[in-house]
Amino acid sequence: MKANVVYFYVIFCFYAVIISANLFAGPDLKKEDEVIEKKVNELLAQMTVTEKIGQLQQLSYWGEKVPDELAEQIREGRIGSFLNAGDLEIKKELQKIAVKESRLGIPLIFGRDVIHGYRTVFPIPLGQAASWNPAIIEKAAAVAAKEASADGIHWTFAPMIDIARDPRWGRIAETCGEDPFLTSTLGAAMVRGFQGKNLADPQTIAACGKHYVGYGAAEGGRDYNTCNIPERELRDIYLPTFHAAVEAGVATIMSAFNEISGVPASGNEFTLRTVLRDEWGFDGFVVSDWTSMTEMIAHGFCKDNREVALKSMKAGVNMEMVSTTYATELEKLITEGLIPEKLLNESVANILRIKFRLGLFDHPVSDGSRQSEIFHPDFLKLAKQAALQSVVMLKNDNNSLPLSGDKTIAVIGPLADSPVDQMGMWTMDGRSEDTQTPLSAIKEKIGENHVKYAPGLKTSRTVDKAGFEDAVKAAEASDAVVLFLGEEQILSGEAKCRAFLNLPGAQEELVEVVAGTGKPVIVVIMAGRPLTFQHVTEKAGAVLYAWHPGTMGGPALADILFGVVSPSGKLPVTFPRTVGQVPIYYAHKNTGRPPSPSSLGIPMGTPLDPQGFTSKYLDVDFTPEYVFGYGLSYTTFEYSNLKLSAESMPMDGSITVSADITNTGDVKACEIVQLYVRDLFASVTRPVKELKGFQRILLEPGESKTATFTLKTGDLTFHDINMNNVTEPGDFKVWIGPNSKQGLEGGFKVVE
Ligand code: BGC
Repeated sequence: MKANVVYFYVIFCFYAVIISANLFAGPDLKKEDEVIEKKVNELLAQMTVTEKIGQLQQLSYWGEKVPDELAEQIREGRIGSFLNAGDLEIKKELQKIAVKESRLGIPLIFGRDVIHGYRTVFPIPLGQAASWNPAIIEKAAAVAAKEASADGIHWTFAPMIDIARDPRWGRIAETCGEDPFLTSTLGAAMVRGFQGKNLADPQTIAACGKHYVGYGAAEGGRDYNTCNIPERELRDIYLPTFHAAVEAGVATIMSAFNEISGVPASGNEFTLRTVLRDEWGFDGFVVSDWTSMTEMIAHGFCKDNREVALKSMKAGVNMEMVSTTYATELEKLITEGLIPEKLLNESVANILRIKFRLGLFDHPVSDGSRQSEIFHPDFLKLAKQAALQSVVMLKNDNNSLPLSGDKTIAVIGPLADSPVDQMGMWTMDGRSEDTQTPLSAIKEKIGENHVKYAPGLKTSRTVDKAGFEDAVKAAEASDAVVLFLGEEQILSGEAKCRAFLNLPGAQEELVEVVAGTGKPVIVVIMAGRPLTFQHVTEKAGAVLYAWHPGTMGGPALADILFGVVSPSGKLPVTFPRTVGQVPIYYAHKNTGRPPSPSSLGIPMGTPLDPQGFTSKYLDVDFTPEYVFGYGLSYTTFEYSNLKLSAESMPMDGSITVSADITNTGDVKACEIVQLYVRDLFASVTRPVKELKGFQRILLEPGESKTATFTLKTGDLTFHDINMNNVTEPGDFKVWIGPNSKQGLEGGFKVVE
């Protein structure tokens, strides 16, 4: 009997080994990695300390001719990378010097901010996030990689996977919004899109998860400001998006400008070493943000460049962007024994590893043969598709939309024909002449003679009302008005923070006079952040939020306005009623005194509220204007039949949760079905709701589909009092619904 058991055990082990060997064999990336590791070590062994330090230096270069002094630096192996670095010809010249004229011929790596497209500009990331569609986001990033790599770019400083819960912060435009689950999913899709299946493919580029970490938590929504983030919040909210990027294979990480509870991110051993390397096993390289290392002097964390180099190297910043403290200080620090050469070697190895993975030693720079593929018609189709899916309909009373194509339409507003603004921030390589505006698209759709155009205001910030008269005339001569309002592109992005969230300039007054004509008013808002615009909404029959929709924003909006496609976007971020509610986000804690339903509906500006001592405001309803996940459609959807596969889930087990969704209207449309949970009682307090799944489903009129989600205990973890990542037994609520507020509710237990 005993012998039998041993026999079976041996056979079992034999097959287990065979099966697992086959399962993990794959395309033999592991073997490739071993080969690369060997090459890295061989190269490293030949390098002088100066050449090693050179690999850590990244400079920005915009010039049109390579100056002799710069050429000499490259020849001496003192530069490892450039960002920006001009057009392809300049890159070729720089690379030729590195590869042919430096002692070891190590190629440079060229980085650039390819944030939401290269020449073909996709919606800003916050807009793309409103599509809740990782597949289209992955494709958009792949297009950006194709275009950028054709122009000699190897590496993009994207995706930005900071969590943003404050719309005053201008860089919210670059994020995927407020939620760790949504951002993790979409950020990982961007990484896959940029990097493809194999970085060595010349049509892919290395991605960079930024800004590590907590940059979005800037106090007061003011860029670069202090971030105080307790470790539990850091681990539960801000770190998971980066962990997901690392799991997706992101090649590089950028250390942020901000401090995290007293320790600047670029000198932060805990986040850069303990978490990123030791806990997650990241093997790419870390680049500092632009002078974020030397800014540690202004932070009051380092007294001079020497200390900057010392603390950054110890923390684990591998490449220095723009500032030059490694170049000037590191050799001395090593000679004095303050930094072991082993640390330097690690940094260099991390950088070389990525250069080898990118295949730069075999194809150091694009030969230009693919440049003709840039701005391919297929890319434009995808950009239109992405713009279509990013538009969120916030209001549509009495079927004000879609418009009928045989009417005369007044197209009014500063964003109706503003190609640069509709591209949004970070579009160094987008061209205004490529951009199709709503004005041109609407003219094309319904015929020029059916369109009366009057901008009303020159830009979003204009206060001069000289254009109002023409706007009113255009409205009077039309059957309906479409007002394109919002923010110019320079009002969002880096260092573009606002203390007010209203529509700037005289836009509200423009709406007032145009609505005064009595014509039906549709408002389309293009902006880089959630704005507050209650008075405008009151005057409009319908409101579309289009973010900055990119090159193909015009045709996409025209299709939605005239009913070719139903809007399907959902908000990736909560919209406040007023700036005074910020930060406001759906996954908040309950508090000990949650506001009661009886204190709902306090109008803006109410001087004194008679209600009791609960967590709310006296002068405005505590709820947001639009909740996370919200968005309307030209059809209606009914949710029914919530089912759970079991009442309880064992530890390390799973359950499925499903619901039927029916298109109860008469238009084919997409619905984004959302799954939320709440952990009711735990050893530390938990949010009132957390997104745990979503699906985009397409439904014909009358059609029903079942959305099924699998929830594992691993999806329910949080960091407990000892900072262990745990799922605790107990009661959970679960919802499947159309947004973070509504939904069918059920419950389950996690049992030991
Ligand atoms: C930004 C980064 C960007 C870098 C390089 C910095 O100012 O914070 O997001 O990648 O510049 O352009």
